[in-house]
Amino acid sequence: MPPLAGLQHSGSAQFYNAHSAIYAVLPPPYGARMTKQLLLGQTLGFSGNPLTGDWADAVQFDSAGGVLIDGAQIVAVGNGAALKAAHADAVVTDYGDAVISAGFVDAHMHYPQTGIIASWGKQLIDWLNTYTFPEEARFGDPAYAAMVADRTLDLSLAHGTTTLTSFCTIHPESVDAFFNAAAARNMAVVAGKTCMDRNAPDNLRDAAQSAYDDSKALLEKWHGTGRAQYAITPRFSPTSTPDQLAALGALWAEHPDCLMQTHLSEQHPEITWVKDLFPDARDYLDTYEAFGLLGAKGLYGHAIHLEPREIDRLAEVGAAVIHCPTSNTFIGSGLFDLMGLARAGLQIGLATDTGGGSSFSMLRTMAAAYEIGQLRGVALHPAQLMWLATEGSAQTLHMNGQIGSLNAGAIADITVLDLASTAAISQRFDKANDIWDALFPTIMMGDDRAIADVWIAGQRLTPR
Ligand code: GUN
Ligand code: ZN
Repeated sequence: MPPLAGLQHSGSAQFYNAHSAIYAVLPPPYGARMTKQLLLGQTLGFSGNPLTGDWADAVQFDSAGGVLIDGAQIVAVGNGAALKAAHADAVVTDYGDAVISAGFVDAHMHYPQTGIIASWGKQLIDWLNTYTFPEEARFGDPAYAAMVADRTLDLSLAHGTTTLTSFCTIHPESVDAFFNAAAARNMAVVAGKTCMDRNAPDNLRDAAQSAYDDSKALLEKWHGTGRAQYAITPRFSPTSTPDQLAALGALWAEHPDCLMQTHLSEQHPEITWVKDLFPDARDYLDTYEAFGLLGAKGLYGHAIHLEPREIDRLAEVGAAVIHCPTSNTFIGSGLFDLMGLARAGLQIGLATDTGGGSSFSMLRTMAAAYEIGQLRGVALHPAQLMWLATEGSAQTLHMNGQIGSLNAGAIADITVLDLASTAAISQRFDKANDIWDALFPTIMMGDDRAIADVWIAGQRLTPR
């Protein structure tokens, strides 16, 4: 297949600088520009869940496809030539053999940990105390928080991620910084103030009442503002007293349209600690359930070492677990049972978990999910990996149909993948027999160089 003319990557530093300039001239949310855009290339979308049935039944692939965008929205996906003939007024961008996909959706990450990503030698609790908490203590400074929020969103966009779901810190300033930075880029994001009133340093503790009050004020300010969604965010049960968990459970009951995000059963020493702290709890999940923090809009990060009752309850209420594979290997947490949990009926999202995760790239994250699958005797298909990184994650956020989708009616958040972005990938791509064989080397070996273009709400971001 020929190389992609005109899609050379511009280099990371230049990419971020150019973005700053481009963001300054972005129109208001949801794009005021009404010009029709037609993207031509190999279109890959989904009509169902490829984890639960035959993956092939869920795939919508066209090697000569087209995506028609009007304003901020995808209005048609189909044969490229037919769309071109029917919409002669559309501005055409021809991506050749590149894959046009929904933008990647990162369902769990920590933007305040960008500065400590890839910190050496610790497992979860030591890692939090040694690296994470000292860095998070800096986010009461609005200027520092804004700088890291800008940097994180630009890094994520450079890697093709168009939606992030982030923990912030205990500081309301850190939440404002993140939502403001996302609004400046017109990105759909989910975030919330991380609440902790015990087992954290003095300068990182709030209280049950202040966590409720601050979260409520932030939620009222940001939830549904532009493309922002608020998630009530107790960090994990070891750092919240029962009073704080109850206060946040009450807040969620008052605002059931919000998401709730936390961590669950990531490492064995953590689980033992939870059992010590909550002697009456049936299991880790019960420390949330008992305080009103289990529900369909709950996002439970990691969920590696679940007990049968926990799996049954998560499935029963329709809650989502978020797989964070680079984090699980980097921090040494364990091997997530993706197929077992999917068969049990759980919603599953995919996430970087930066900076416990070791990459901003959802391609690298898919590769790590594949590797963990192999260690459990399961070979995840490229279609399943791509679904997890787009539609699957969007479903866990209850934002499917809007984001993570290459279907008519969705917002045009789009990532275009160059399938021959490096010499190593290109020589493998040249031997490919079909789209999956062509795409898989990019999933396994690709990075930001594979991101040919990114569109946010119908606006093309990548500088030429
Ligand atoms: N559990 C509680 N906090 C964290 C965090 O920041 N990262 C990870 N990976 N696990 C956690
Ligand atoms: Zn996390």
